[in-house]
Amino acid sequence: MLHKKALVVFVVVAAYFVLPANSNAQGKNSYEGVQVCGMCHKTEKSGNQLKIWQDSKHSQAYKTLLTAKADEISKKKSGKKAVENPECLKCHASGYNVDKALVGAKFKVEDGVQCETCHGAGSGYKSMSVMKNKAEAEKKGLVMHSDIEKFCKTCHNPESPSYKEFKFQEMWKKIAHKVPKG
Ligand code: HEC
Ligand code: HEC
Ligand code: HEC
Ligand code: HEC
Repeated sequence: MLHKKALVVFVVVAAYFVLPANSNAQGKNSYEGVQVCGMCHKTEKSGNQLKIWQDSKHSQAYKTLLTAKADEISKKKSGKKAVENPECLKCHASGYNVDKALVGAKFKVEDGVQCETCHGAGSGYKSMSVMKNKAEAEKKGLVMHSDIEKFCKTCHNPESPSYKEFKFQEMWKKIAHKVPKG
């Protein structure tokens, strides 16, 4: 059984190195899921980030791995089904590779590239009092990005088997989800 253990250690260590730079999987916050974030981020006044995300391809990123096309690409690379292949999941999902204790009851891996994929696991910052205080939220694990383009390219890069040139301005417009001013 030593063999199996060694393999587990290898996978965990490997996952650490291949995760996109801003992933918060090693932190102690747990993933809450888009439903939880959406409780407050779904009104017109807040900018309805939930709806923008639902209408974006990011919400479909895991489902894409369930297609025949995805399996074909994945099996050629490593003989595994796409949804079981960490080489695919690392850009198409989050929370699949962390301890179960770090995954909240409402979190769904099927939600693909979701709020916490980009903003960090949310159990520590999701309360109203913390969320209203930017500095405090970031201290408690909220991830913001000073160089947004660079962040996008942690996934939108030639390592993607279907990579197309990433035109940042155009792509950012498609998923922009600002809080309205005033
Ligand atoms: C209890 C309500 C509530 C929940 C739950 C919540 N938020 Fe927020 N969030 C807010 C409020 C209020 C703000 C302040 C901005 C505003 O007025 O909309 C905010 C701000 C933010 C910001 C912008 C911070 C900044 O520095 O400008 C991000 C990003 C964010 N939330 C992400 C999330 C994510 C991801 C989740 C789920 C893990 C989440 N929120 C859950 C209420 C909430
Ligand atoms: C964790 C990895 C990841 C990150 C980070 C990421 N994306 Fe994506 N993105 C994906 C995946 C995977 C898809 C493909 C989803 C599908 O079609 O199933 C995608 C698709 C998209 C699409 C739809 C493609 C199209 O041609 O319309 C847009 C737009 C997009 N991303 C914009 C962005 C922007 C802008 C950023 C940075 C703010 C970003 N993404 C960051 C993984 C990521
Ligand atoms: C480095 C990040 C990354 C990795 C690794 C990755 N993908 Fe993707 N995938 C993306 C992004 C980003 C897109 C959106 C299109 C693009 O590449 O610009 C995408 C799109 C797709 C699409 C839709 C393509 C289309 O034309 O509609 C499929 C299918 C897909 N990926 C399958 C896979 C499979 C299978 C694996 C594992 C072998 C994988 N991806 C690994 C980032 C990634
Ligand atoms: C593909 C990555 C990605 C996803 C998915 C994503 N965000 Fe963001 N979000 C960003 C980036 C990048 C910014 C720009 C600001 C920054 O990070 O500094 C941002 C900004 C925000 C802001 C601040 C807007 C402002 O006007 O200051 C809020 C609030 C927010 N996101 C909430 C959410 C919520 C809620 C979800 C899920 C429903 C979500 N985000 C999903 C990447 C993402």
